[in-house]
Amino acid sequence: MYDVLSVREDFPVLKEVIYLDNAATTQTPVQAVYAMQDYFFKYAANHGRGAHRLARETTNHYEDARESVASFFNIDAEKTIFTKNATESINIVSRGFPWKKGDHVIVTLVEHHSNLLPWMRLRDIGVEVTVVDVDVAGVVNPEEIRNAIKDNTRLIAVNHVSNVFGSVQDIETISSIARQAGVKILVDGSQSAGNMSIDMKSVDPDFFVCPGHKGLLGPQGTGVLYIKEPDEIESLFLGGGMVSSVTRESFKMEPSPAKFEAGTPNIPGVIGLGRSVEYVAELGVDSIQKHEFELAREAASRLEDIAGVEVYGPKKRAGVVPFNVTGMNAHDVAMILDQTKGICVRSGYHCAMPGVDNLGVNGTVRASFGLYNTEDELESLVKTVSDITALV
Ligand SMILES: Cc1ncc(COP(=O)(O)O)c(C=O)c1O
Repeated sequence: MYDVLSVREDFPVLKEVIYLDNAATTQTPVQAVYAMQDYFFKYAANHGRGAHRLARETTNHYEDARESVASFFNIDAEKTIFTKNATESINIVSRGFPWKKGDHVIVTLVEHHSNLLPWMRLRDIGVEVTVVDVDVAGVVNPEEIRNAIKDNTRLIAVNHVSNVFGSVQDIETISSIARQAGVKILVDGSQSAGNMSIDMKSVDPDFFVCPGHKGLLGPQGTGVLYIKEPDEIESLFLGGGMVSSVTRESFKMEPSPAKFEAGTPNIPGVIGLGRSVEYVAELGVDSIQKHEFELAREAASRLEDIAGVEVYGPKKRAGVVPFNVTGMNAHDVAMILDQTKGICVRSGYHCAMPGVDNLGVNGTVRASFGLYNTEDELESLVKTVSDITALV
């Protein structure tokens, strides 16, 4: 297990606040910020174009970052595509998949809007979309998915960990159901990548997406998309950097990953992401998972013990703890936590309205733990929430 107090030294802002909004975005370690600073101060140039030394150095660093991310997930570098976030990754798949009218897609009620709307829009082109139910704790029952599969089902899109509930889906079983049925599966790893071990070889998803700015500790504006069979998916964007030849009549695309990365990418961001992924790997994902899951489990059980506090989600949870103080609006609770003790949490629908609606509430307060949070910070959260209940 790594030493949390020394890890915190790598995240200067943690001296100022109690940061419990890690499911929205995490802080970035100084090592990754320095890597980005080196890019700007020492070798900034465009990627993949140009024979001069700076262009070559930029390209090397950018491609090294791809190698770091691919090796972190144990996937092929040529199938590891950089995007600007998980949302873009999902849209590339939903737009580039070879749909036919009458095809069928399965999603769940507990998806982030980013893994819901791109599929719902397919209804406009005659694709049928089924949204399967989840239980009240946000857990997807793989049997619900099996039962929803029909002859025309082409794809299942499902979260690995719910950003609303912290529920960890049985992704291995869901994936094997998809495989048995000959249906493709997209796994939204936005809340699991960097937070828990993912055995890509056994899950074997057709598509895996995650942002760079959550558990991978990278900067905003970075995302990852893994495509098992890149030739089956059309590029969403066309332009420079992704073609090998262009004539007046036609053009020939480069293979993946260049095919999916048209235009100048977020070069400094990707270089920062490469370094932050190495940082996560150095600490060890198993240790991070143990730390975050234990803090969340304890926070949930301590909050549950406070009269007037309702906690949601399953007993076995990732680092996410949603709750409400009876009689108080979630945003007011979040504001008081910040203004009285500098505790930063998220409140509202968490970009997952159907999932929150399913609870019968109009929002929750969400505390989400990261690798650098401490027992003292947890104490502070519990004590301040308890004080807030006295205000009602
Ligand atoms: C489960 C899940 N999917 C997708 C997203 C979208 O991520 P991004 O905003 O980086 O595209 C999020 C962000 O909170 C998420 O939690």
